[in-house]
Amino acid sequence: MDRIQIRGGAKLQGSIPISGAKNAALPLMIASLLTDQTLTLENLPRLADVSQLVRILGNHGVDYSVDGKRAGEGATAGQTAHLRAKTIVDSTAPYELVSRMRASFWVIAPLIARVGEARVSLPGGCAIGTRPVDLLLMALEKLGAEIAIEGGYVVAKAPKGLVGAEIEFPKVTVGGTHVAMMAAALARGSTLIANAAREPEVKDVADCLNKMGARVKGAGTSTIEITGVARLNGARHRVLPDRIEAGTYATAVAMTGGDILLEGVGPDLFQEALDALSRAGAKVSSDNRGVRVARNGAGIGAVDISTAPFPGFPTDLQAQFMALMTRARGVSRITETIFENRFMHVQELARLGARIKLDGDTAVVEGVDKLLGAPVMATDLRASVSLVIAALAAEGETTVNRVYHLDRGFERLEQKLSACGADIERISG
Ligand code: EPZ
Repeated sequence: MDRIQIRGGAKLQGSIPISGAKNAALPLMIASLLTDQTLTLENLPRLADVSQLVRILGNHGVDYSVDGKRAGEGATAGQTAHLRAKTIVDSTAPYELVSRMRASFWVIAPLIARVGEARVSLPGGCAIGTRPVDLLLMALEKLGAEIAIEGGYVVAKAPKGLVGAEIEFPKVTVGGTHVAMMAAALARGSTLIANAAREPEVKDVADCLNKMGARVKGAGTSTIEITGVARLNGARHRVLPDRIEAGTYATAVAMTGGDILLEGVGPDLFQEALDALSRAGAKVSSDNRGVRVARNGAGIGAVDISTAPFPGFPTDLQAQFMALMTRARGVSRITETIFENRFMHVQELARLGARIKLDGDTAVVEGVDKLLGAPVMATDLRASVSLVIAALAAEGETTVNRVYHLDRGFERLEQKLSACGADIERISG
């Protein structure tokens, strides 16, 4: 198993190209199941989760190919991939595949919309808390699917096709919104999704569906209207930049000091996080090349945050922000409102010398003068990268174990950071 070794203390200086968003890439790839024509995705990130989804989609009959490198293309350019589900050869998504990545459960929507049936394993346990799929199934039932649970599998049937309906989510759910949108795109009649997730990735998927011939209006707001169509076409779509990757490196430079340009991303994708970093003492500006984050001289201010659905502070940046707060002057309170168990990084940050107390859904972080390197490991990808951020500012050497978590969601992390002056390397084996 690979490890990452970091010797802390270096400031980050330079620019970091931001990759395509994992959390848009995955549902966009899944949307390829909706049509028998080719969906071409540009700026697809090179991530373990993308490769895993390629395996899952392949099982349903999706042919996948990636363009070779083009003249003048640097190592940091995203990939262009072609996905074609000419025929759905298997509407079952087996446990061995789905249990490794929750988002793969979302194949249930295009499968039932296109072939009238799907058998998808329930995703099972997850390190960041119980993450049920009841709301996803509620949405499909509203659209006319019959749902049964058999042997750990959700069996969904709609032999006469799905029918448009009104779906109101009692709680904002990104996956529920993706599933409802994809299924409604091929349903007969109109669908209205109320209390929809407003995440930029939902809007990106809607934009792609519209290029494929769907009629989706309002994505990016909390009300989405969809007029179903009989079939969808192929299309070409560019995956939007990864706001969580950008926010992670922004937090890293706020931690180490220095000056970084996050190339190719706009501030609107992660404004709430940038505001929190500004309050902590970072200088944030933006131009047509990207977002610049710098911190010089002055220490880190203590800032309270509470996670919330977009446009609020993202849960996917909570661990990283906590790492930053371990070095703040004073006490900060970090409240997690989306996932009940997303504090697995607390014990590991403590191994580096952080002082954090948990009080229900809130972590109370008392800033310390210094962190000291140590061997650490984490159980999910955002928690892992929070340890990288802490290690970049710790004295001495930190080894982050279980790097496969990082590889699920961060493309070329150690190259991007070392190009900006960090002392970081991957140790194989
Ligand atoms: C997406 O997960 C992201 N994953 C997560 O990113 C992200 O943390 C999360 O949205 C919130 O922003 C992808 O996009 C692939 P939800 P998702 O449905 O869709 C509850 C990362 O690190 N809920 O919005 O699974 C749920 O338990 C990952 O990249 C139900 O109760 O999240 C949670 O409390 C981790 N019933 C809340 O809703 C349901 O049927 C929001 O979950 C569905 C969800």
